[in-house]
Amino acid sequence: MAINLKGRSFLSLLDFTPREIRYLLDLSHDLKEKKRMGLHGNLLKGKNIVLLFDKTSTRTRCAFEVATLEEGAHVTYLSNSQFQVKESLEDTAKVLGRFYDGIEYRGYAQKTVVELAKYAGIPVWNGLTDADHPTQILADFLTLEEMVSNKPLSDMKLVFVGDTRNNMSYALMYGAAKMGMHFVALGPQALAPNPDILDKVWEVSKSTGAVIEFTDKIDKAVQGADAIYTDVWVSMGEKVDYAERAKLLTPYRVTTDMFNKTGNPHTVFMHCLPSYHDFETETAQHFKEQGIDMREVEDAVFRHRNSVVFDQAENRMHTIKAVLVSTMG
Ligand code: CP
Ligand code: NVA
Repeated sequence: MAINLKGRSFLSLLDFTPREIRYLLDLSHDLKEKKRMGLHGNLLKGKNIVLLFDKTSTRTRCAFEVATLEEGAHVTYLSNSQFQVKESLEDTAKVLGRFYDGIEYRGYAQKTVVELAKYAGIPVWNGLTDADHPTQILADFLTLEEMVSNKPLSDMKLVFVGDTRNNMSYALMYGAAKMGMHFVALGPQALAPNPDILDKVWEVSKSTGAVIEFTDKIDKAVQGADAIYTDVWVSMGEKVDYAERAKLLTPYRVTTDMFNKTGNPHTVFMHCLPSYHDFETETAQHFKEQGIDMREVEDAVFRHRNSVVFDQAENRMHTIKAVLVSTMG
């Protein structure tokens, strides 16, 4: 049966079948090629979308804006609204549902994006919550397909290093389980994934052949990896002791030594960005002055010839375009 995603929200890859994810990736490859050929479309002509942000963003906001405009739709960016301040989630969702054809939401609880979808009556796209970041995963998988030659996703070993309880770790786990990949979450026991989430991905893996593991042992985890992926040590909105977090995660910083331990000269380095790989930002400087080194990756790995971080960033736009075109168009 042909895939039809019209009217669907995009809240988590857990809501999509492997065939539907395959369809979104194929469409992303096609839309990227179309843009490369200089073809601008009007697949979303006459549509209006709203971007609702309760957290900061560079890539996600810009990807949604450019994707929308390139296919002929209009976009409103909303960061300072009445939403959940002077107006309930339900009321704002109903109002936006009368004005727009789709809503992007970035914020805290996954429940918020689920409830927006329940009340808005139009597709809602998850632009990151504390628990998930599904549009990022489409971009990451598109990048893997482009950069790891001669292998389908189902033959790849992807290692996520660092805070394995964060939104990126979980979102990658969901995607890897759906696409039958070998996924290793590597980090300290104190930041191990929630057992309920592991149960959920193991259940999915039964039908896809995926292998999803958690370990704190670096050498075995990275051996033969096709990709080493990391993310910041403290995510947006987390209230933690930074010195404590840095102490836990320093052994898991992606160093040249760790990267070489894969034994695979073609291993790619991945990061969703933004990243602390040097001390160029105000925040990194601020921590450095307190004697805290928050770099999750060494600059040399970040800038390594096998680093694909900016390809991932570009692919946010092509994959988000595929989500918009297929769910709303
Ligand atoms: N990767 C990502 O979501 O980046 P932004 O926070 O800049 O949107
Ligand atoms: N884990 C990070 C991802 C940023 C794209 C955060 O939530 O801050």
